[in-house]
Amino acid sequence: MNRAIVWGLAGAALIAFLLTLAGERGMLGDPPEAQQAADIGGAFTLLDSEGRSVTEADFSDSYLLVSFGFTSCPDVCPTALQTIGQAMDLLGDDGNPVQPIFITLDPARDTPAVVGAYTQAFHPKLIGLTGSAEQVAAAAGAYRVYYAEVPTPETGDGDYTIDHSAFVYLMSPDGAYLTHFSHASTPEDMAAGVRDFLG
Ligand code: NI
Repeated sequence: MNRAIVWGLAGAALIAFLLTLAGERGMLGDPPEAQQAADIGGAFTLLDSEGRSVTEADFSDSYLLVSFGFTSCPDVCPTALQTIGQAMDLLGDDGNPVQPIFITLDPARDTPAVVGAYTQAFHPKLIGLTGSAEQVAAAAGAYRVYYAEVPTPETGDGDYTIDHSAFVYLMSPDGAYLTHFSHASTPEDMAAGVRDFLG
């Protein structure tokens, strides 16, 4: 081998090594989807329907089906929660390791009792969570949920509705994002999608 080829090979090896190193450190960037997925979820501290403090650690034995919304939502939230309830029924005993939770984005109106009564109407296993405005904002931020209060003066002074993104997230027992469902998902889609991840 002549000297130019040796240096060429050495250079190529060095570049390959540096690219591997950069890739491992995420310097080249993950594909947008993977990066976003890895970012979804995290720690939260909220209140259950009895006003007791709960965190993600209280659900560490379960797959979590996480949804966000507000109890006076006219359409999207009830549909999503109905879908979750029916998916849980379709899963039957296979759904035992799955814990559906609904986190309100309207803590000012959705007190622990209000959110608890609301979720019970959709499925006995569905847990409703609320908290302080800061706690709710932190939970929504962890799940990359967009929401904004929108005044509706036409229905009354000080009235408002809440615009919000409406995905349902499936998280593993160790808190990793697995997949999500849109509000267009049917109960059959959701049950099948969850089943894919159950051991
Ligand atoms: Ni809603």
